[in-house]
This record gives sequence, structure tokens and C-alpha cells, in this order.
Amino acid sequence: MSEALANLLNETRQFPPPAELAANANVTAVAYEEAAGDRLAFWERQAGRLAWAQPWEQVLDWSNAPFAKWFTGGRLNVAYNCLDRHVEAGLGDKVAIHWEGEPGDTRTVTYADLHRLTCQAANALTELGVTAGDRVAIYLPMIPEAAVAMLACARIGATHSVVFGGFSADALTNRIQDASAKVVITADGGFRRGKPSALKPTVDEAVANCPSVEHVLVVRRTGEEVAWSAKDHWWHETVETASPEHEAQAFDAEHPLFILYTSGTTARPKGILHTTGGYLTQASYTTHAVFDLKPETDVYWCTADIGWVTGHSYIVYGPLSNGATQVMYEGTPDTPHKGRFWEVVDKYKVTILYTAPTLIRTMMKWGEDIPAGYDLSSLRLLGSVGEPINPEAWIWYRQHVGRGELPVVDTWWQTETGAIMISPLPGVTEAKPGSAMGPLPGIVADVVDDQGQSVPNGGGGYLVLTEPWPSMLRTIWGDDDRFLETYWSRFGAGANLGDEWVYFAGDGAKKDDDGHIWLLGRVDDVMLVSGHNISTTEVESALVSHPSVAEAAVVGATDPTTGQAIVAFAIPRGSAETSGEQGEQLIAELRNHVAKALGPIAKPRQIMLVPELPKTRSGKIMRRLLRDVAENRSLGDVTTLQDSSVMDLISSGMSGGK
Ligand code: WT7
Repeated sequence: MSEALANLLNETRQFPPPAELAANANVTAVAYEEAAGDRLAFWERQAGRLAWAQPWEQVLDWSNAPFAKWFTGGRLNVAYNCLDRHVEAGLGDKVAIHWEGEPGDTRTVTYADLHRLTCQAANALTELGVTAGDRVAIYLPMIPEAAVAMLACARIGATHSVVFGGFSADALTNRIQDASAKVVITADGGFRRGKPSALKPTVDEAVANCPSVEHVLVVRRTGEEVAWSAKDHWWHETVETASPEHEAQAFDAEHPLFILYTSGTTARPKGILHTTGGYLTQASYTTHAVFDLKPETDVYWCTADIGWVTGHSYIVYGPLSNGATQVMYEGTPDTPHKGRFWEVVDKYKVTILYTAPTLIRTMMKWGEDIPAGYDLSSLRLLGSVGEPINPEAWIWYRQHVGRGELPVVDTWWQTETGAIMISPLPGVTEAKPGSAMGPLPGIVADVVDDQGQSVPNGGGGYLVLTEPWPSMLRTIWGDDDRFLETYWSRFGAGANLGDEWVYFAGDGAKKDDDGHIWLLGRVDDVMLVSGHNISTTEVESALVSHPSVAEAAVVGATDPTTGQAIVAFAIPRGSAETSGEQGEQLIAELRNHVAKALGPIAKPRQIMLVPELPKTRSGKIMRRLLRDVAENRSLGDVTTLQDSSVMDLISSGMSGGK
């Protein structure tokens, strides 16, 4: 790709798995060999980890590629796999969810409880006229009912569409309309940042414009007053009074399980469709393999929201299909105090923690004294997901959360892939901080150049997936053409570059000298400076490797001489002085620091020291807004911002210049 790439990432640290973990790992190096030998037979064995009502005839039907069918002819029920079979195995009293509300209220939900509630909800939905194939929108806070609602839909074959509780009425309206949802499941509200945050008024506003919606089920969580209409039903009056008897019926392996809209900050959201057998196979297997989950002894905690795919696959379907005990937390990491996460780890003796780089960097900013104040000795494995994790954050996570001993699995995947694709195996891989390392057994990935040719080690380009995988998206809901165009037309059969279908992930990536994969962020986030491709992530990584920088975001701004110029926004760490001459000095030092790390071509034209960065609610930096600032434009749409005051802070509190 570029010279800059060749200079990039001199990261050479490497951490082998702890001996004990390696000796007892669920999955060993043999899995790679088996999958390389016969990939479909490998996935067939993983499907065999589930309970099927009727076995499949064919593992993969790729005859209508890229529209895949996995485990054709097979029939199963997802909720049965997540609940009934554990209860039938005598594990009804086992805790499924240790739920912690933000205000500190708690609930302990066993597998028997979850099974009963799900059966009741399935009966209640059926009573409301929901049948297999209908769509149900779910707009809930992080309460056990969110999992129950999803499982109840799965149980009766209704396709759920979970909409993140932080989204606006417009976003909710679009998603309900796109899927023609018949029922909405919501709550009066949830707790966020120490106070009740209402949800029902947003649903009321949306439903007024959604004629497809016949009923709204409302969980009482905050107890706040809500407006009431003829379509509304209280959950506690409908679900909790319904019969707890419900026999799960098996559905076809390709029956639509859920639609989830990608969080896209630019274009119209895409309704990503996932189906039943292949999705559950891979969500379940990857939970077992990547987190080395031992359901008898582990306490697992994924800090994502159920509104994102991470919550679907690694709070609901992956952990529950494995019979895990997990923590579910309603609120924010700094309410009522900045040690809240560590307090939860300590309280429930969490052994496996799965969180996002944005959170880790926030924790870094708050300082290592905070985790040091809690007993984190129960932890044995750490995971990261959502964006590239820069080596400094990886090391901090291992050091200050993982006692300098624990494996960190950096897991790459997408809403579209349904489950983890590229990641270390904790008992096998010698992980490098900042690298997702390589594809899991049964997954085939590559990095290709503009022409779709595989790049040699040391080269960079685009991440592609060259073989179908069980939990792959089946289409974009209602828009097969967009599915073909977005994912399958860039390389391979779709563009007549070859006979093979090649999935374009939209991420830039490089292979290091050992062939390990480093994700560089979305390709729309790659800058073209004087003809060189430079990834925003790599410059950000270089910036945060400086001791005075807590977090950084980099954008390419139009520049008359270089095409695009690198403009960086950096949040200084704790005590660094940011104003006046000292600020100027720090900026000069940082520019040189980047030039030294990545080569002179990557030296930012401009660095601004800022107190905060604009992020979407899923923690992705909104570079579009920063580009507006960098190019002196008025700000575009800020409605998907997590905290709308951030841009005011940045515009007013900005210091530094060229
Ligand atoms: C995009 C997908 C996967 C669930 C949460 C996000 C980025 C995700 C990593 C990682 C580098 C990552 C990619 C990807 N991403 N994980 N470990 N390293 N980048 O799901 O909202 O569909 O976003 O998140 O850019 O394409 P999503």
C-alpha cells in the first residue's frame, strides 16, 4: 500500500498464553488443522454442539451465492437451545443472569426463571396475534426482560429487531417501518447517569407514524408516569399472568431470527438479516472457543448493550446457549462513581470480561488508581471488541486490569458477520498488542490490494472474507441489490475479477511480517496525503503511545497542497498542561513523536488539544464532525452523538494550531 505502512507499528511485544489456561483450553491448535482439512465438516461438528429437532441434509448450499444456506433441512429452536435443554439437564437452579441495576438494585435470574419468563412472554405474544415470521421491535433498557423478549420471539419464530434504547423517535420510526413490525416491546424507561431516562414517550411518538404496530408491551422499570393508549399493555399484567407452559416448536435452519440495523453515521441504516441454525452455531462455538468459557465455574460479563450485535451474540445467544452464568449491568461506567465496573467485577467475581477499547481508554484517562482499588483477582481472561485497540490501551488493560498476566483477545467482527471472525485463541495464540492476529478455525480471511490480489506479508490493503461462514448475514432486509452491491461487488465474482465470491468488509488492514492481521479502521477513514494512504488509526496509535496523550482522533482535511492533510485531536492525560506556551510545546513534541514513529509523511499538519471527543453511542469516533471542525465548516448532523455538548466543548475549548 504505502511507504508509511512499511514504517508503521514497530510493535514487537508478544504474550504467550498462561500455561494453565493453555493446558486446559476448550480449544487447542488442533482445531486449526481440522478446519483447514475439511472446513465444512468442522462446522458440522460445531453445529452438533446444539440440539436439533431434525438433522440437516447439507452443511452449506452455496448454489445461489452469495445468498447462503447453512444446515439445509435442519430444524431447531433457538430458545430451546438457550434454556430448555439446560433446565432438562438439571441446571434449572443455576444462575443465568446476575443483574445489577444502575441504582444498585439487583436480581438473580436462574435458568428456570429465564425459561419460565420466556415461555410466558411467548404465550403473551401469541395471544397478541404474533405468529412465526412476524417482526417484533424491541426498545428496552438493559434489564433481564430484554433477553426474555428476544428469546420469546425466537421461541415462536418471530423475527426481532432490537433498537438501541438511546436512539431517537425518528431512528425508531424508520426501523419499525422498514421491517413493518407488528408489536413493540418497551419499558417506561431505564436508569442512566443516576436518573430515570424515559423510553415510552419516544415509542409513543414513533408508533403514531407506524400503522403496522398493533400492540405495545410496556415493562415497568422506573415507575414514572406514562401516557397510555389503546394499543398499550403492561408487561406485568400480560406476560407475568400468562401460562408458563409453552412447548417450543422447531424452525427451519434458515428461518429469519433477527434483523439488526447497522449504526451507520452516514447512509440509510441497513437491516442486517440473520437466520437460525448457522447463526447460533457460530455464536455458540465462538463463545466456547474465544472466551474459553467453562460454564461450571466462569462468571462472564460482556459490558455491551443488547441494542448492538455484541449484546445479541455475546450476552444473549452465545453465553446462554453454552449455559453460562453472566453479569448484566444496566447503567453507565461512572455512575455513581468511576469505579463502578470494577466494583461489579469484584462483587460477582467476574472471570471473563468483554468490553470495548473506548471504555478501556476512558479508564486509562481516569487513572490506574481506580481499578487498583478493587479486588480483580477473579479475572482470568479479557476481551476487546468494536474498533481497533491501540497497543497502549491493550497493554494498560493487561497490566492494570489483568495483573500483567491475563490473555487479551482482540476480537474482530461486525453486525454483518454475526459472530467473531478474527481473534487470538486464548489457549493457543501468542498475542501481539493491537493485532486481532488471525482468522478463527473455519474462517478464511485475507488482505487484498485495489485489484483484489492478496498482499504479501508486510503489505496493507482491504480486509476480505473469501469463504462463506455459518453466521454470515443472509441479506439486507428487503434489499437484495444493496446486499450484493455493498458487500460482494468490490472484488471477486461480483466484479468479474474471478469466479470466487469475496466479501468486502469495508475495513483497512495490514499483514505484518509474520502474516498476522492488524485492523486499521473503516476504509472511509483512510487518508490520502500526497499520494500516500495513511490510516487514521495508525496515527492515533502513535499519538496515544506518547505518555501525555490519553486519547486521540485523526481526520484527513482537504489541503490545497497535499490533497488531504492530517489533523489530530488529542485529549491530554491528567496533569499535562494544555494552554499557552506549554500547550504549544506539547503539540510540537507530539507532531515530532508521530513523525518519528511513522515516518515524516505521517506528521500531522495540525494537532488540537481537546477535553473530549465526539462519539456515537456505540463508542465510534464521529470523524465526520471532526472533519467539519478541521475544515472550518459548520457542524453537520449531531443527533447520533452520545453527548451533544461535546462539540461545543471542542469548538470553544480548542487550543493549539499549526
Ligand atoms: C466494525 C463493525 C463487532 C461488534 C461491534 C461492532 C470495527 C469491530 C474490531 C476490532 C478493529 C474492529 C470494524 C468493523 N471493529 N471490532 N477488534 N478491531 N476494528 O459492530 O457496529 O457492526 O461495527 O467495527 O471497523 O467493521 P459494528
